[in-house]
Amino acid sequence: MKSEWIQALGCMTHGIYVLTTARGNEINGMIASWVCQVSYGPPLVAVAVHPDRYSHALIEKSGVFALHALEKGQADLLGRFKGPDPAAKFDGLDWQPGRTGCPLLATCAALLECRVREVLAPGNHTIFIGEVVHAERRSDGPLLCTADYSGQYLGKT
Ligand SMILES: Cc1cc2nc3c(=O)[nH]c(=O)nc-3n(C[C@H](O)[C@H](O)[C@H](O)COP(=O)(O)O)c2cc1C
Repeated sequence: MKSEWIQALGCMTHGIYVLTTARGNEINGMIASWVCQVSYGPPLVAVAVHPDRYSHALIEKSGVFALHALEKGQADLLGRFKGPDPAAKFDGLDWQPGRTGCPLLATCAALLECRVREVLAPGNHTIFIGEVVHAERRSDGPLLCTADYSGQYLGKT
């Protein structure tokens, strides 16, 4: 029996995003759902990343990340971003480097390129707060969120 707080936190819905990052020629991508807008002026978004993630090391060093909001029909894309090999994640995928150097996926509902403004470590995930330096809305369809996906992230995956 899961503790009450784990069950209750499992009822919070989040978007499901593909986070990408880059440092020089190194690129990586991961699934992120602990993502939230935290300011309008300037536009800031926060993402909570576990220190064990390879993406964490890259963001720490480069200070940049990009977030892709996905269409509901894009759940199949998530599988490739679970693997350990950064090159395999992007193999055969249509993407271009953005102005931050982060890989930008051609197919997504929207993307945000961010430069890290603050780093907080209040618990076991690091919160990177990024200022949005480039944004694109690419489609109007319904968006993928954790309610559509069986793999709700509770902090351990
Ligand atoms: C639906 C879902 C949401 C996730 N959200 C996060 C998240 O917000 N933060 C995080 O650190 N890991 C999250 N993960 C786990 C990472 O995506 C996963 O550990 C990934 O393999 C890390 O890749 P990397 O080590 O190459 O950076 C999530 C996983 C899933 C399936």
